[in-house]
Amino acid sequence: MSPDDELAPLPTAELHLHIEGTLEPELAVALAARNRVRLRFDGPEELRRAYRFSDLQSFLDLYYELMAVLQRPEDFTDLAEAYLRTAAAQGVRHAEVFVDPQAHLARGVPLEVVFEGLGEAFATAEERHGVSVALIPCFLRERDPAEAEELLPRLLRYRPLVIGIGLVSAETGRPPELFERVFARAADEGLHRVAHAGEEGPAEYVTAALDHLGIERVDHGIRSMEDPSVVARLRAEQVPLTVCPLSNVALRGVDRLADHPLKAMLDAGLAATVNSDDPAYFGGYLHDNVAAVTRALGLTLDERRRLAENSWRASFLPAAERDRHL
Ligand code: ADE
Ligand code: ZN
Repeated sequence: MSPDDELAPLPTAELHLHIEGTLEPELAVALAARNRVRLRFDGPEELRRAYRFSDLQSFLDLYYELMAVLQRPEDFTDLAEAYLRTAAAQGVRHAEVFVDPQAHLARGVPLEVVFEGLGEAFATAEERHGVSVALIPCFLRERDPAEAEELLPRLLRYRPLVIGIGLVSAETGRPPELFERVFARAADEGLHRVAHAGEEGPAEYVTAALDHLGIERVDHGIRSMEDPSVVARLRAEQVPLTVCPLSNVALRGVDRLADHPLKAMLDAGLAATVNSDDPAYFGGYLHDNVAAVTRALGLTLDERRRLAENSWRASFLPAAERDRHL
């Protein structure tokens, strides 16, 4: 087997992917032209140069700004279609995709536009790309939790495509317990629950998200490694963590990939998975992340198999379907 074969993609479930974060500069520029939206960037190259960040907030500023090019259902369809094509080539066979409804509503784009546009691409994704897809709308933590509570019933209309809810955006100063009520309602409705925690925020936000929001997976969670009692709990309960290595380096949570805690997480017996977060902005899709950490951390083929297996176990697929991949 050549080193390249060893690094061939393994069939994997992608569990941490923001659909708006798959907006490549070329597509952003093309959609801006199609919708007559003026961007402050002169073409895809200049835009690509702006995809450099000092922290999470500096990324979020550009990420929300560029959403302006997404106006009509077909824009969301084209965005999703481009992601599915690339993801399939990178070994993704199932994706539980995040979307930010409040960010679109706040700029006057109705829910129907977002969900019908995405739904159009997702309905035939299995047939055309060999990728099954589900959707997890996420609440923005800087906004009023009451707004999330009002939005929840409207999201329920998009079941069964919608399978759960998440919590995203700048973490610091917005502890999980603010969103306890909406997460409790979502649980009563039988929705799955996940939350970004321990990305920039402290390990105690991971504990708070487990205790107050009843989350079934932790998105990122890398700062859990700073608190041995949190690590012990994640291990004992086998709580899945959706880790995004290229994102952590791009947003300066980790200095270099060689310093990334992923291997330490595996060594500690945690149920870590590798995902791509906002791949257009951070330099790579799912397998690009796996290949990069494999090289930087010297992961073995067995460890890569474990990551893929963890992704299937952590997915929200029905047990029979999930077990087909194990
Ligand atoms: N929204 C999109 N990407 C995000 C990230 N990495 N962290 C928090 N919120 C996000
Ligand atoms: Zn994320």
